[in-house]
Amino acid sequence: MYLVLESKLYNTLFLALFFLAYSPNINGQKSELSSDFHKNRRVELQQKLPSNSVAVFFSSPVRNRANDVDYVYHPDPNFFYLTGWNEPHAVLLVFNVPQEDEEGIYYEKLYVRERDARNEMWNGKQLGIQGAETMGFDRVASKKEFVNTSLKLDRFDSVLMFDFENDVRDDKSDASDLFNLQEHFKNAVNYPEDFDADRYRLYQRIRTAEEEEIPSLKRMISFYAQQDETLMVDPVIKDFMNPDDNTPLIDLQSRTAYLVRDYNFDIDQLPYLMASLREKKQPEEIKLLKKAIQISAQGQIEVMKAIHPEMTEREVQGIHQLVYKKYGAAHEGYPSIVGAGENACVLHYITNDKTDLKNQLILMDLGAEYNGYTADVTRTIPVSGKFTPEQKALYQIVYDAQNAGILAAQKGASFRAITDAANEEVKKGLLALGLIENPEEFRRYLPHGVAHHIGLDVHDPGLYENLDIDMVITVEPGIYVPQDSPCDPKWWNIGIRIEDDILITEEGPVNLSAAAPRAWEEIEKMMSKTSPLDDFKLPELVID
Ligand code: GLY
Ligand code: MN
Ligand code: MN
Repeated sequence: MYLVLESKLYNTLFLALFFLAYSPNINGQKSELSSDFHKNRRVELQQKLPSNSVAVFFSSPVRNRANDVDYVYHPDPNFFYLTGWNEPHAVLLVFNVPQEDEEGIYYEKLYVRERDARNEMWNGKQLGIQGAETMGFDRVASKKEFVNTSLKLDRFDSVLMFDFENDVRDDKSDASDLFNLQEHFKNAVNYPEDFDADRYRLYQRIRTAEEEEIPSLKRMISFYAQQDETLMVDPVIKDFMNPDDNTPLIDLQSRTAYLVRDYNFDIDQLPYLMASLREKKQPEEIKLLKKAIQISAQGQIEVMKAIHPEMTEREVQGIHQLVYKKYGAAHEGYPSIVGAGENACVLHYITNDKTDLKNQLILMDLGAEYNGYTADVTRTIPVSGKFTPEQKALYQIVYDAQNAGILAAQKGASFRAITDAANEEVKKGLLALGLIENPEEFRRYLPHGVAHHIGLDVHDPGLYENLDIDMVITVEPGIYVPQDSPCDPKWWNIGIRIEDDILITEEGPVNLSAAAPRAWEEIEKMMSKTSPLDDFKLPELVID
């Protein structure tokens, strides 16, 4: 009996120690962005909010890797943008109508976890409530207060929020973890358990559709149904798509009406508002982006100098990441894509485990993340140091396409203009080399878009209308010819992408990643240089 008890106690302690050892490990880190930057962003958001509304933001969840090990914590980009707060289990409220408490008027309130001595012993210092108070918020409170007070959200005309994803674990040992914070909030806004935002929007569209809008609405639903076949099983949507001839539209619309409740929560406006705030970068953000981009360009340069035919995809990835760490970037902004030969034709190849690279082209799409801001830079180089004639011919097309795309990236131009300019060059080039017979077949070899915003997200939110100064975007055409493509086999297994990060200015596009050679001649020249890593040799491992 005694023995059993003792071993139970021992097990509990043992588990507790391990749990603590691996609990979220971003603690006490402050953003390099100033408190004023974050404050100004909140004020700007507040001014864009609709009348009598509140915007609600939750920090991102702690994501489990396996068993008692979590992934390194990464803040939600919107949350970080508005707060600079790096720790989990937090909520931010931004009001556009004055709130009042015993201390007076306020427009924002941040709820955070309190400092915890045991967690700090294992994971380092936490900022806690006092730390947050030094960061310029009107009000800071414990997350416990959020779950223990009535939120009274029905007094607002609208409660703006992002819809919930089902990826939040409930830490049973913490009654005010993110799971509980969200549950309490969901109750306060009557968020339905089975809420399906896409379906809800479709019901609303059907309810309010004018007769002449019906054909386009039906086309849209057919398109969605290709990804979600349950749509066509929904009785209302099914009847709308294939109406009994005797059922007038008005009857269908009245059936839809009872499914649509007038909630005061709104999941559509906040993503739009945040995209409109984030798409143009502030001077402080541009500085951080420049740093992330320069670090990433240097990674490309160091690999160009160090690579040799015996190197593996993993080693190449490691060199980029060594450079990132040397310059103080915490990690990469997205999983690194390092693929040679056939792997270069897989657009988001992240396995990076090929060991035999020989005379192939290697595509390297990587970005350092610095203070949350990520670069997105791609170079494609010959592992041998010299392009073959086929590799060079396709490379030149992508290079010309990228130059055309960058040239089109002018203030006032549309995103579409960049894509069109790059695509034209790819069509022309592929026709000339005989890989395609009519221009529109180019899509087979260039199946992706060629420009997106970067920032706190590698695919940063934006409205994707016209370009404006202080936007930072990628221009990234490519050509990918997988094995068995309908062309001369000499082109097979060549995959090329060239991607640069472009700042839009009054004077025109500025290539922030230009330090990494792009033209094939420049790449070959850089590859002929020696590298400090040439002497980095490790002993052979002998495993018994
Ligand atoms: N690295 C992902 C992309 O280029 O969009
Ligand atoms: Mn990109
Ligand atoms: Mn990329």
